[in-house]
Amino acid sequence: MNVGVLVSGRGTNLQALIDRSNRGELGPARLAVVGCNVPDCPALSRARAAGLPTFVVDHRDFSARAGFDRTLATTLRAHQVDLVVLAGFMRVLSGEFLDAFPGRVINIHPALLPAFAGKRAQMQAHEAGVKIAGCTVHFVDGGVDTGPIIAQAAVLVQEDDDEEALRARILSEEHRLLPSVVRAIAEHRVVLEDRKVRILAASPGGDALRSL
Ligand code: GRF
Repeated sequence: MNVGVLVSGRGTNLQALIDRSNRGELGPARLAVVGCNVPDCPALSRARAAGLPTFVVDHRDFSARAGFDRTLATTLRAHQVDLVVLAGFMRVLSGEFLDAFPGRVINIHPALLPAFAGKRAQMQAHEAGVKIAGCTVHFVDGGVDTGPIIAQAAVLVQEDDDEEALRARILSEEHRLLPSVVRAIAEHRVVLEDRKVRILAASPGGDALRSL
């Protein structure tokens, strides 16, 4: 299964995918290409350092979202991408893009959805004073962070956590969860029925999707 990763910034989740892939732990998933809407972002350097093909589609070159989305989809298809992973990709994708990859676009969000959707999720969680926080990998639908939930990982909030400490604890779970979901999808263990996701068991010695 060819995976296209879309990024906009730092790229630590991309790095987690690269590291797992280099260790032969992504199952049948193969990182085929990394696409970015921000020229020269650190994530692109990580992709290049790993020897992955990259491309940039700068949203500022387009007067409307449709053109940007179409170019993105066409470029991913040219790389024979089967699964699109949004790993810190900071653009909302249109229905037209999603129709090009039906049920094949996933996103990682740094909160336990449906709580704290949208921007600055960790800050929202910190300000709400929650005692358990975490991250979610979900299928992307037309809304913002509203698609069917595939897997979640929880972290305990410590009494003296500031927003940054909480962000870091969630991020390390993101790095574990996202590659495991990509592998599970590539192994055809993720079943979407009626907007609910069922995960089939991993084979012995495989990668279980652990929430805690
Ligand atoms: C992560 O917190 C992810 O959950 C959110 O954007 C951030 C990307 O971080 N969607 P990185 O670029 O992978 O380091």
